[in-house]
Amino acid sequence: MTSNVSRLEPRRTEDGSFSLFSHQVGEGFHSGKGAVAEAWSKFVEPADLERWPPGSCLRVLDICFGTGSNTAALLEAAEQRQLSLEWWGLELDPDPLRLALADESFRQQWQPTALEILQQLQQPEAEPGMVSAWQHPALGRGQLFWGDARACLPALQASATGRLDLVLMDAFSPSRCPQLWTVEFLGALAALLAPQGRLLTYCSAAAVRQALMLADLQIASIAAPSGLRQQSHDWSGGTAASPMSLTDAPLLRPLSAMEQEHLGTNAAEPYRDPTFNAERAEILRERQRAQQLAMQRGGVEATSSWRRRWGLGKEISNHQ
Ligand SMILES: C[S@@+](CC[C@H](N)C(=O)[O-])C[C@H]1O[C@@H](n2cnc3c(N)ncnc32)[C@H](O)[C@@H]1O
Repeated sequence: MTSNVSRLEPRRTEDGSFSLFSHQVGEGFHSGKGAVAEAWSKFVEPADLERWPPGSCLRVLDICFGTGSNTAALLEAAEQRQLSLEWWGLELDPDPLRLALADESFRQQWQPTALEILQQLQQPEAEPGMVSAWQHPALGRGQLFWGDARACLPALQASATGRLDLVLMDAFSPSRCPQLWTVEFLGALAALLAPQGRLLTYCSAAAVRQALMLADLQIASIAAPSGLRQQSHDWSGGTAASPMSLTDAPLLRPLSAMEQEHLGTNAAEPYRDPTFNAERAEILRERQRAQQLAMQRGGVEATSSWRRRWGLGKEISNHQ
């Protein structure tokens, strides 16, 4: 696995927290609002840790671990509530964590325990198949699998299937990294969830929601930065999915009429990867072909007309 530091550029987000921009992918690791703010509002708070009494051990998978911000926030929340974790992480590239830990302000962002755990996971060179581990007397233990998340998943299927309480899904957006938003990959993640487990993601793309529903999960919208009431410019903070109904869960709401109709547009054509190792271009090409076929057959609305009907602009990237 080659490292090329210049393709990752450190960025400061609106809340003052550390983030990265990937020139290779053409996308930031977090929204401009803030890496720490996002970790709390899109992952930790919608996880609703109040569901577990102090002393419980939660099983958690962090997909696209990156700088470790989502896990660090979760560790802090777990420590506050006297919870421990049995944790797994998946990540292709050791550079995001290395660059983050080298940054003084990133280290200042976290409580000593969370920082110590991130430091335990650091690997100067991470070859596919390598595993880093952490251990803490009160907070539990974890393993980070280095490599393509699709190739690493089988290593944890035996111990995690049907047992995970939380899956934090933070891949680059579907158009940039469709490999990790396919019916097959999201279906494999769904199989890991315990009956009351939750998959949480910042993403509210119709194709992703469709794939989650095809995996027999119930879905709900995560509160947008403006709150649970839907605003046309800011209509969702992401998606929660679970084998169980998510009705009445704090910070989650049922899909609005607008979001339901989004699922009837050609944007809801899911990404597919039947061989589980297809390249990005191939996945995008096949989806475009399927979208054209569906439009020819009729019964699917063009996403542009749905946008016009609901007065939406084009600028909302996490909804694509
Ligand atoms: C949006 S960033 C994740 C941000 C991260 N959660 C954080 O808080 O810093 C996406 C991450 O996915 C990783 N990635 C990209 N493709 C991957 C793949 N196929 N398998 C595993 N990780 C991948 C990138 O190296 C990057 O760290």
